[in-house]
Amino acid sequence: MLDENRGQRLVILGTGGTIAGRAAQSGDNVGYVAGQVSVADLVAAVPALAHLPLVVEQVAQIDSKDMGLPVWQALARSLAAHLDDPAVSSVLVTHGTDTLEETAFVLQQVLQPRKPVVLTCAMRPASALSPDGPQNLSDAVAVARQATGGCVVVVCAGQVHAARDVAKVHTYQLNAFDSGDAGPLARVEEGGVRRFRAWSAGDSRDAAPAQASPDLLERFLAAEALPRVELVTSHADADGNLVRALAAQPAPARPLKGIVVAATGNGTVHRSLVEALNEAKASGVRVVLASRCARGRVVPHAGLAFEHSHGLSPVKARLALALELLMG
Ligand code: SIN
Repeated sequence: MLDENRGQRLVILGTGGTIAGRAAQSGDNVGYVAGQVSVADLVAAVPALAHLPLVVEQVAQIDSKDMGLPVWQALARSLAAHLDDPAVSSVLVTHGTDTLEETAFVLQQVLQPRKPVVLTCAMRPASALSPDGPQNLSDAVAVARQATGGCVVVVCAGQVHAARDVAKVHTYQLNAFDSGDAGPLARVEEGGVRRFRAWSAGDSRDAAPAQASPDLLERFLAAEALPRVELVTSHADADGNLVRALAAQPAPARPLKGIVVAATGNGTVHRSLVEALNEAKASGVRVVLASRCARGRVVPHAGLAFEHSHGLSPVKARLALALELLMG
C-alpha cells in the first residue's frame, strides 16, 4: 500500500550491468558488453512505467565486476539526496548482477534508509531476443510502490531479497539469486507483492556488525579508500604464504587492516593458515571468519580460531569489517 504521507515520485538510478548490456546478435545472451544502454532507454522500454512520476539519473555506466568506492560514493550521495526529498517515495537502482549483493549491503549499512531502496538487474542483455530486464524493472517498481518500510532490497526473477541475505548463486539462469536459509522476503506476482516475512533493516536475525552509526555515511563519502581488508580462502593443501605476503605490507600507502577468511564448514581453517593468521593478528590485523559454504553461517562456539562474521558471507563480511574499521 502506498503511504498517504509519503511523496509519490520514484527515482531510478542507472549504474550499468547486463540489464543495460548490448550484444552484436540478438540471439547472444552471453557475448555482450555490459553498461551500454542508458537508464532512460531502459525505462522507456517498459510501457507500463510511462504514466508514473519518475525521475531517472545515470550515476554510472559500468560492468559491476569493476564496482568500487567511487561509484558507491556517487550512488550513496545521490540516494541520500533523493531519499531526503519529501516528494520522493522510493529509489530504484539498476545494477549488474555480479556485485549486486555487495552494493546492496554497503548501501544498507551506510544509508540505513527509511524509505525503500530497490535494486534490480538482469541476466540477459537489453538486446536479447527475450530480455529479463524489463520484467525485473517493472517488478522492482511494483515493490518500490508497495513497500512501506525502509531498507535495501534486491528484486530479480520475481523474488524480493534482503540486502543482508542475498547472494548470486548461478552464472546463467534468470533466477540467479538466493537468500540462503532465510529465503526471499516476498514474491512479485502480476504486479502484486506477496510477502513472506517482515521487511525492515531491524529484522536481521543475527546481531548486526557494529557499523550502524550516523557518522558512517559522512566518513564513507569523504573516504579516499576503504581500510584495506583482504579475503583469503581456506582449502585443502593451504599454506600461510599468501597471508604472510599480505602482512608484509606490499602496499604501505594502504596498509593491511583486516583479513576475512572464507573458512571451511562451520568456521574451520587449515592449521598452516591459522599459524600465519595468528602472526598477522599479533601484528594488529583483524581476522574474521565467514564460511565458504553456500548455505548456513558460522555457528558461534568456543572452538573458533578467530571472531566470526555474524552470519555474513565472505564478501559481505569483508565490507562489514572495512566499514567498522573506517569508523576507527
Ligand atoms: C555485471 O555485473 O555488470 C555484468 C553481469 C550481469 O549484470 O549479469
